[in-house]
Amino acid sequence: MAVILMTGAAGSIGRMLRARLAHHELRLTDVRAEEGVDRLDVTDADAVERACRGVDAVVHLGGIAGEGPFEDVLAVNVRGTERVLQAARRTGVPRVVLASSNHAAGLYERGDAGPDGLADDVAARPDSYYGWSKASMEQLGRLYYDRYGLHVICLRIGSCCERPADPRDLSVWLSPDDAGRLVEAALTATGWRLVWGVSANTRRWWSTAGGLAIGYYPRDDAESWARQVGEPDLTAPENRLVGGPMTAKPLGG
Ligand SMILES: NC(=O)c1ccc[n+]([C@@H]2O[C@H](COP(=O)([O-])OP(=O)(O)OC[C@H]3O[C@@H](n4cnc5c(N)ncnc54)[C@H](O)[C@@H]3O)[C@@H](O)[C@H]2O)c1
Repeated sequence: MAVILMTGAAGSIGRMLRARLAHHELRLTDVRAEEGVDRLDVTDADAVERACRGVDAVVHLGGIAGEGPFEDVLAVNVRGTERVLQAARRTGVPRVVLASSNHAAGLYERGDAGPDGLADDVAARPDSYYGWSKASMEQLGRLYYDRYGLHVICLRIGSCCERPADPRDLSVWLSPDDAGRLVEAALTATGWRLVWGVSANTRRWWSTAGGLAIGYYPRDDAESWARQVGEPDLTAPENRLVGGPMTAKPLGG
């Protein structure tokens, strides 16, 4: 059991994780307070530092979860993450789990994947300002690991939702239960790592190596929903590129 500070706990993934990490002592926070969730704005350095005291790990989910104006993703995702890492270092928290995104590497395509799938740690190739902010968060994590030995596990999450919603999800879905397994594994991982956050999907084309290396064994498979969501057109950019439809949206939303 660990004491875990969760940011963004009122959001979609935060809600999924709360029950699945309930055997830990959870300190749930979000910029939007609600029952059981204290208000914490990750851009407020002093407040983040106070929240980090006595904590074993931070699970950092809070931020803008899609494309937005450059200044906004810079302020909330990048500066907010710097505040979290800085506070963790100052208060002696040994480990931070960062919610990165497939959009940090969204412009790779299926042809870039080797026989074992696209490597977890391919160099960043963002598809949007949002993806750029996630790549920047990853690199801030690397800076804090290299300079201070803070363990930072960056999860390049695919599409995390209750069930696959469209043909792309047959490849990139992360089930809520697997999200719980992934974060649990990340809570004991060491070093600076990039790990795909994806389930054991039959059609997955991203590597399993990064997950296996930290003891993440996904169990769910989007294939069970193939009939409902329909077959993907693999020549269409939304199915050919890691980042899916985001790769065609105007920058800034
Ligand atoms: N859901 C997915 O499929 C997916 C995929 C890739 C990455 N991610 C990442 O995972 C994280 C959680 O995603 P989600 O789907 O739950 O998104 P969400 O939008 O449902 O939740 C994000 C939460 O962050 C909070 N937040 C926003 N600004 C904040 C601030 N300044 N301080 C503290 N909290 C703030 C919001 O109030 C919200 O509750 C995000 O960082 C997102 O980028 C999600």
